Amino acid sequence: MREVSGRVAFITGGASGIGLGMAKVFARAGMKVVIADLLRRHLEEAAAQLDGAGVHLIELDVADRAAMARAAEETLRVFGKVHVLCNNVGVSQRNPVDEATYDDWDYVVGVNLGGTINGLVTFLPRIKAHGEGGHIVNTSSMAGMIPVPAFAGIYAATKFAIRGLTDSLRLALAPHRIGASVLCPGMTRTRAITAGDQYRAAHTAGTQPSESRDPIGHGMDPQEVGERVLEAIRRNEPYVFPHGEFKEEVREHFEEMLAAFPEAQRADPLRLEGERRRAEMTRRAKALASAIDD
Ligand SMILES: NC(=O)c1ccc[n+]([C@@H]2O[C@H](COP(=O)([O-])OP(=O)(O)OC[C@H]3O[C@@H](n4cnc5c(N)ncnc54)[C@H](O)[C@@H]3O)[C@@H](O)[C@H]2O)c1
Repeated sequence: MREVSGRVAFITGGASGIGLGMAKVFARAGMKVVIADLLRRHLEEAAAQLDGAGVHLIELDVADRAAMARAAEETLRVFGKVHVLCNNVGVSQRNPVDEATYDDWDYVVGVNLGGTINGLVTFLPRIKAHGEGGHIVNTSSMAGMIPVPAFAGIYAATKFAIRGLTDSLRLALAPHRIGASVLCPGMTRTRAITAGDQYRAAHTAGTQPSESRDPIGHGMDPQEVGERVLEAIRRNEPYVFPHGEFKEEVREHFEEMLAAFPEAQRADPLRLEGERRRAEMTRRAKALASAIDD
């Protein structure tokens, strides 16, 4: 989507951190922005940082399908259309993956993967309907690329899923002139780590916390991540990896996997022919996806 000015973006978890970084960058580029977020206090703080014109705020828990549908309708009422969907909410929890409870799994999977699915099922028909094209940005993580410590195991499961989902979605959406990118940040200066428990309480019990917590101090500036996302939307790039320090670790991880394949293998020719055709179809779909704005 080379021309973004005047286009409408819907960003989940948009009132803090990376989502707010995207919102600020999008608004500066002339886009209309809907910020949807669970916490009223974050929405109020975000509103104070953004010029009111062209920005609309909605209180939303992404795991709530009915509320997601209402938020989509509100977006159309306010801005007429929606072009860009950023499924950005992501939460974690503290139990090691081998000791996690069903509640831990249900919470993180329900919000991260469930919220992304709810965004797609709700918004894709509305983006397809106007025929002007669009773009989907799903926020994964470096935890969706490489192994992470035990406490982040459930989080990683959802982030790997979001990456795989986006790869497939990109191919499916190309005929509709809708692009798709997966965002995999490393450490970014947001509230993510310190406010996690507040998000779980607000999601589970509907409590709105009154005090703010400090962000992690050493990460990348969320607006820098937002700039990379906007560039990826304009160029329809499949992958957004803002943090260069991960490149070697990703290479090592993928080389370890490549080394696990057999060098040469006798196989049923029909099986090989089937895979050759499937791989060719994927290549063609990828080429179509890369060319939608040419
Ligand atoms: N900060 C990092 O270092 C980092 C690294 C990799 C990936 N990420 C990913 O970036 C995304 C954004 O995280 P962030 O770091 O900006 O965090 P953040 O805590 O600063 O912002 C997240 C926002 O999401 C909102 N939220 C939480 N639960 C919600 C729900 N159920 N429904 C709607 N809104 C909800 C919060 O109120 C908050 O405003 C997440 O998907 C996260 O996994 C962050």
